[in-house]
Amino acid sequence: MVSLLVLAVLVLPPATIATVTTATRNCSDTCGSDVIPYPFGLDPSCSLPGFNLTCAVDKHTNASFLMLGTDNSTLKVSQVFADSNPYLSYLHTSLSYTTKMIPGVRDSSIHWEAPARPFAISGSSNISLFVVGCDVTASLYIGNSVVQVGNCTVVCTEAQIMEKLPVGTCDAMVGIRCCSIGIQVNLRAFTLNISRISDSPRPKQVQAFIAYNMNPTFRPIDAYSGLLERYVAQLDWSIPYQPNCKHAIEDKDNYACVSDHSNCQDSPIGGYLCYCQSGEGNAYIDGGCPNPPVYGSIQPRTNCPTSCGNMSIPFPFGTELGCFAKLHLYLTCTPGTTVLPPVLKLTDQALVTDISIDDGILQVHEASGPGDFMARWNLDPALYTSSGQWGAVKWVIDNMTCQHAMNNSDYRCFSTHSDCVDVTEDRTLKHVGYRCRCSSGFEGNPYIQDGCTDTNECREPDKYICKGTCQNSFGSYTCTSCPRGTDFNSVAGKCKPTTIILGVTIGISSGGGVLFLAAIVAILTRRWKKSVQKRQRKRHFRKNRGILLQQLISSDQSASDGGTKIFSLEELQKATNNFDHTRVVGRGGHGTVYKGILTDQRVVAIKKSTLAVIREIDEFINEVSILSQINHRNVVKLHGCCLESEVPLLVYEFVSNGTLYDLLHREQNGSLSPLSWEERLRISTEIAGALTYLHSAASVSILHRDVKCMNVLLTDSYTAKVSDFGASRLIPIDQTHLVTAVQGTFGYLDPEYYHTGQLNEKSDVYSFGVILVELLTRRKPIIQNEHGEKQNLSNYFLWAMRERPLEETVDPQILEEANEEGVLCMAQLAEECLCLTRVQRPTMKDVEMRLQLLAGRRVVPRAGPHEGLKGHNLAVKLRETLGVVVLFR
Ligand SMILES: *[C@@H]1O[C@H](CO)[C@@H](O)[C@H](O)[C@H]1NC(C)=O
Ligand SMILES: *[C@@H]1O[C@H](CO)[C@@H](O)[C@H](O)[C@H]1NC(C)=O
Ligand SMILES: *[C@@H]1O[C@H](CO)[C@@H](O)[C@H](O)[C@H]1NC(C)=O
Ligand SMILES: *[C@@H]1O[C@H](CO)[C@@H](O)[C@H](O)[C@H]1NC(C)=O
Ligand SMILES: *[C@@H]1O[C@H](CO)[C@@H](O)[C@H](O)[C@H]1NC(C)=O
Ligand SMILES: *[C@@H]1O[C@H](CO)[C@@H](O)[C@H](O)[C@H]1NC(C)=O
Ligand SMILES: *[C@@H]1O[C@H](CO)[C@@H](O)[C@H](O)[C@H]1NC(C)=O
Ligand SMILES: *[C@@H]1O[C@H](CO)[C@@H](O)[C@H](O)[C@H]1NC(C)=O
Ligand SMILES: *[C@@H]1O[C@H](CO)[C@@H](O)[C@H](O)[C@H]1NC(C)=O
Repeated sequence: MVSLLVLAVLVLPPATIATVTTATRNCSDTCGSDVIPYPFGLDPSCSLPGFNLTCAVDKHTNASFLMLGTDNSTLKVSQVFADSNPYLSYLHTSLSYTTKMIPGVRDSSIHWEAPARPFAISGSSNISLFVVGCDVTASLYIGNSVVQVGNCTVVCTEAQIMEKLPVGTCDAMVGIRCCSIGIQVNLRAFTLNISRISDSPRPKQVQAFIAYNMNPTFRPIDAYSGLLERYVAQLDWSIPYQPNCKHAIEDKDNYACVSDHSNCQDSPIGGYLCYCQSGEGNAYIDGGCPNPPVYGSIQPRTNCPTSCGNMSIPFPFGTELGCFAKLHLYLTCTPGTTVLPPVLKLTDQALVTDISIDDGILQVHEASGPGDFMARWNLDPALYTSSGQWGAVKWVIDNMTCQHAMNNSDYRCFSTHSDCVDVTEDRTLKHVGYRCRCSSGFEGNPYIQDGCTDTNECREPDKYICKGTCQNSFGSYTCTSCPRGTDFNSVAGKCKPTTIILGVTIGISSGGGVLFLAAIVAILTRRWKKSVQKRQRKRHFRKNRGILLQQLISSDQSASDGGTKIFSLEELQKATNNFDHTRVVGRGGHGTVYKGILTDQRVVAIKKSTLAVIREIDEFINEVSILSQINHRNVVKLHGCCLESEVPLLVYEFVSNGTLYDLLHREQNGSLSPLSWEERLRISTEIAGALTYLHSAASVSILHRDVKCMNVLLTDSYTAKVSDFGASRLIPIDQTHLVTAVQGTFGYLDPEYYHTGQLNEKSDVYSFGVILVELLTRRKPIIQNEHGEKQNLSNYFLWAMRERPLEETVDPQILEEANEEGVLCMAQLAEECLCLTRVQRPTMKDVEMRLQLLAGRRVVPRAGPHEGLKGHNLAVKLRETLGVVVLFR
């Protein structure tokens, strides 16, 4: 078979070297009522070379018909197929022969050649040569060669027998009545030799014809009677000037696929074919393919459905023609029934549960755990990308960059006061496309004309803080602080007269009396002021649940032993030089930290919460209650608190050397200070130790909830101390998780917690993993990619671990100092901590042990006899009295 194919190629007519100019004509020749499709034509000037036909008229019927080829080898063409479907590039003709086997003559030979170079009998179109006759053998050869395509033998067939045969029973296999030779090579020429197999005296007539295999309308008697023209032979055609598309495309001058939106396809008979991408039109004519249909609208038409069930569908998304901006933003809405809720679908696999225009995020219903959901949901990877959060996909309006889009006529940020945002893939940082958002100070839908409207910031005091008179202006707002004599009243949301007013009017009569009176008034006023202040402090003290806490602490003997003390405001004012701004050592999410020196010369850090809202006070008491129970060398020690000021104050041991964040990321004199591998290992082990202790040292488990470098303080000797327990929670060890409102820091947040709101120890493990990555790479938890878009370091790291050599990812200093194995171990540990699913993350204890092994150290005894939680007792009391603060079963 292989040799046959090779020879079949060899017998192709020799290639003409002459270049062919593929004219871009549309001559619209007709023959009778048939339009002749280009590249066919009636004139050489109006067809591609080899495709010229002749329109002839039948003398008897006056009907027109097409002829192909020159005098020596003409074919009557019954139908030309030049469809834009490349599988329909052939014509129908008739290839049939009748031979009289004259007595005495044993052999007869028939030769056929394709009328021109574009044409061949295709070896892949299920075409056979059929032979009807009596006692003959037929052999089919390629061209003039001795290479056989096949042979078959008909034993004998008489007219009477043929008559009785039903339709479609030419049994080629048995060889009785008729036989066939399947053509499985491309034939541009063939020789058919027919020989007798017995010496029968009567002249015999043999019919041979080419037709489809298994022609269901085959009637043996018709073949026997010579009515062969009804059997259609298929002759494939292709553009023959180049052997395939690859060469054709390079040969630009002669390339036949001249239309825009056309494609090339290799033809099975050699050469190539052209077709329109849209599936209709004529790819051989310039402009012959229609422009691709444009689904999508620049602006939504009126009366577009804006919701599907309770889900709203903002433009550029839409569920009807004219309502979506681009095809990839088309959604289908299945209306709900009494039993089933409505379903909004992006693809068959992706159910949409929420559309965010502001964030460019689509919430897609997750089928199961993580994985390549882009593929699973069958989303267009060119226009959708993972957001790094489960079930959330980033979408873009187009794949252009902003820079390109803004100068493009198809720019879709349609509203005035809208901006373009470049969107990148979360892990690889690859540019995906752009989306739009309303400019700052505006809100609404940037994809709709005049969709972005001015934000009235004054109506949203939670978001736009203004402690004074708020005045909205177009695209912005102004905030004027309260005039003298008034204070901002957060309940009323406006300035109200100050409550402390001296309502004393003094009539003045004489000089000496004035002085005397003034002195009395001054004394009285000061006393009055003092008593007002005292009352205020007491009120604050009450408000801060001080009495409650004091009771708690004094009644719990062990707690007061631990040294947790209630400080007076005066003591702390003295210690901080009245909260002088020069004493500020840090500002965090939960407040400002001052350095103070107590009267007993102890240096302390005093944390002052920023806002005295109820939630903060709860957090504050939470922190007091948690920290007062902890005594661990790697956890910041709480000395006490003060409850008399408007905002609660916490007094800690002073940890002098800044945060781990400063050490890792803050440059001093233009460079980062070196940090040895040993130290990194030690610091990570210490943090891990502190967290292990918090998670598992007693009957209640403490979740830190806000583990991050900024919350790791360092002493002079770089000993790590975990701090900031404002967000922490206690959970009993037998309880596996808590459901809470999501809280934490972007970049460190456990994706599963973010997604489900369920909290457990593994959320801290995730955050710790980010710290490990920071120690390894010395990069910030949120990095900026080349497009200026923010990206999680953790996502980047997981991607880099898979795609890049480790040396390119970690801090060069580590590479110099550490052995490769150690770095790899730590990187793998970080990878495990960052697993998307919690079950796959190690426990903090595992992490600590593995880090200790890495550091080559023996297990350090953790909780000394006096260390450990102050016990169940306190927690129970806290729960009973504070409810909200401590969760305990
Ligand atoms: C064919 O056309 C000729 C002249 O136009 C006419 O005389 C003749 O009758 C036609 N024949 C038939 C079968 O229509
Ligand atoms: C087709 O054109 C070629 C020259 O380009 C000519 O030799 C041939 O005879 C033409 N065939 C027909 C059927 O007109
Ligand atoms: C066509 O046939 C004529 C005679 O019938 C012959 O002289 C001529 O060589 C043939 N041409 C080709 C190309 O076979
Ligand atoms: C050829 O015939 C086989 C079996 O009858 C069929 O499966 C196949 O699709 C046919 N191929 C073409 C190109 O018609
Ligand atoms: C076919 O028959 C012709 C004429 O009888 C003969 O010249 C030729 O050699 C035969 N071809 C083969 C391949 O047997
Ligand atoms: C017929 O074909 C078979 C193989 O298909 C081959 O073995 C045999 O020799 C051929 N017969 C003739 C007479 O060529
Ligand atoms: C070709 O011409 C026909 C008739 O003039 C016209 O209907 C058709 O649109 C033309 N096609 C192209 C691609 O110009
Ligand atoms: C929409 O309705 C479903 C139940 O029909 C409910 O679960 C979902 O929370 C609702 N969503 C909104 C945005 O109201
Ligand atoms: C953008 O999409 C178009 C088709 O929609 C495609 O032709 C083009 O190559 C794409 N560009 C990039 C940069 O992916």
